[in-house]
Amino acid sequence: MSDHEPHLTLLESEFERVLDNYAHEASGGQNSTSENRSHTEELLRERARDRRFRQLLDALPAAVYTTDAAGRITFYNEAAVELWGCRPELGKSEWCGSWKLFWPDGTPLPHKNCPMAVALKEDRAVRGAEAIAERPDGTRVPFIPYPTPLHDGSGKLVGAVNMLVDITDRKRAEDQQALLVRELHHRVKNMLATVQAVMGSTARASTTMEEFQQAFTGRIMALARTHSSLAEDQWQAISTRNLLCNELDPYDDGSGRVQLNGPAVDVPATVAVPLSMAVHELTTNAAKYGALSVLGGSISVSWTLAGEADRRELAITWIERDGPAIEPPTRHGFGSQLLERVLKNQIGARVTILYKSEGLRARIVVPLPSERSPPTPLDSMGAA
Ligand SMILES: Nc1ncnc2c1ncn2[C@@H]1O[C@H](COP(=O)(O)OP(=O)(O)OP(=O)(O)O)[C@@H](O)[C@H]1O
Ligand SMILES: [Mg+2]
Repeated sequence: MSDHEPHLTLLESEFERVLDNYAHEASGGQNSTSENRSHTEELLRERARDRRFRQLLDALPAAVYTTDAAGRITFYNEAAVELWGCRPELGKSEWCGSWKLFWPDGTPLPHKNCPMAVALKEDRAVRGAEAIAERPDGTRVPFIPYPTPLHDGSGKLVGAVNMLVDITDRKRAEDQQALLVRELHHRVKNMLATVQAVMGSTARASTTMEEFQQAFTGRIMALARTHSSLAEDQWQAISTRNLLCNELDPYDDGSGRVQLNGPAVDVPATVAVPLSMAVHELTTNAAKYGALSVLGGSISVSWTLAGEADRRELAITWIERDGPAIEPPTRHGFGSQLLERVLKNQIGARVTILYKSEGLRARIVVPLPSERSPPTPLDSMGAA
């Protein structure tokens, strides 16, 4: 820190004035006495102490400044300069060196009403206040001030000291937390809507309580698995392979019964929930009627990514082999509804199902949204 910095210059010029006055009074046309020499030495020692003290304050990471009893700023440290984004004029700027002040709700806070002004005018320490400083470049810093009046030996108010604690990080964390709570609320509501829709559709398609219980539990478990995978990525995305493995792994005995082939493609949460439910329906159908219902049957799932960066499409091909000979179905249950209606309505997927005698073939083409957004409820299943 240089002696030419404005705050020290002012302090020192004040100090010089005191010394000059003293020298003037002391001389009175006469030579210095040993008494006034020791007084001068004491003043010089005080000056050195003062400088050390201010250097110490400058080294602190917290913004600190002082005012005189009238509220005029007499000192501020480098951390205050950083917080304010400016160097207010010492002896002229009043109450606070910030460019502009606001209350936490964003309404303007005149400097004459700021916590430091209150502390001086009411001669009391002000605690629990919060404000926002705006720098000349327009950036804003939320802070907590700690203005404290200072008194001399006789108890007379001589000024005040204020420490400003930058709470930008805390505010950001609070905002983030509030956002997460809102997001969680949104997701829980969507999830409950989905569970309700799944329950209604499963009940309509079931003939016995046992059938309902088994199908419903399987579907809820599939949802839970997808959510667990999404949670690992802060509810943002799941890889296509993981999405398929969540359902097909229990059937993969290592003999090549389940083959997965495709590049690494992340599926955003919006798409992951309905798509994984579709994979669950394809898997349970394969286990009930198709290739996974007999020994020696196999499933091969491959996927590709096509399209431009902002209009990407994930194309999944599902092929069942060596299962029982099959025929086009006579009934349409929950699985068909989800694949044919829900996927189209919810995520704009194009789905083709072919009931070939040698095994079922399905092709699902899903447009992938460019932005990451929260999942939507599978509302249309409620009407199924
Ligand atoms: N992989 C498959 N192999 C052979 N037939 C299939 C296959 N998947 C579906 N089917 C036929 O298509 C029909 C309709 O399937 P869908 O999933 O819609 O209903 P479901 O499985 O019978 O009942 P739900 O899905 O409501 O539990 C099935 O009853 C079955 O005859
Ligand atoms: Mg089914």
